[in-house]
Amino acid sequence: MKLNSIGLPIVESAVLVQELNSLLSSYQVYYQNLRGVHWNIRGKRFFDLHVKFEELYNDAQLQVDLIAERVLTIGGKPLHTFEDYIQNNGIVVGKNISNDEKAVHLVVESLGALLQIERKILEKAANINDEGTNAMMSDLIKSQEKTIWMMNAYLEESL
Ligand SMILES: [Fe+2]
Repeated sequence: MKLNSIGLPIVESAVLVQELNSLLSSYQVYYQNLRGVHWNIRGKRFFDLHVKFEELYNDAQLQVDLIAERVLTIGGKPLHTFEDYIQNNGIVVGKNISNDEKAVHLVVESLGALLQIERKILEKAANINDEGTNAMMSDLIKSQEKTIWMMNAYLEESL
């Protein structure tokens, strides 16, 4: 098995690069979903949600950078065009959502889809002892699960 300069198998790392690029693409759509609801939200909870969505998209932007840099670290090239993001996106695109509950639902749905992608990556990374990718997925999963819990509490829905 041929290894790259950080000791990971080259062939399997290339597969992980593809999966991480799908996550990156989906994350960019999640970011835009958050921008959309930050801008379009209406109603009595405007001030709370407008700020909450800003907090979430700022965090999403940081995660996007970390995912792209992980792709580079394991020997790949991060996707960076809207065209590629649309082709590789795996989450729902929210459009013109102004209702508060629908907006929060969109966040829960987006995060649920990101979690599925991350769990798949976690499994593949574990198979090749790629602890760096693994740890990144663990951090994302833990934080997103908590956000889903809080969003569901807001909606008064169970997990
Ligand atoms: Fe703003």
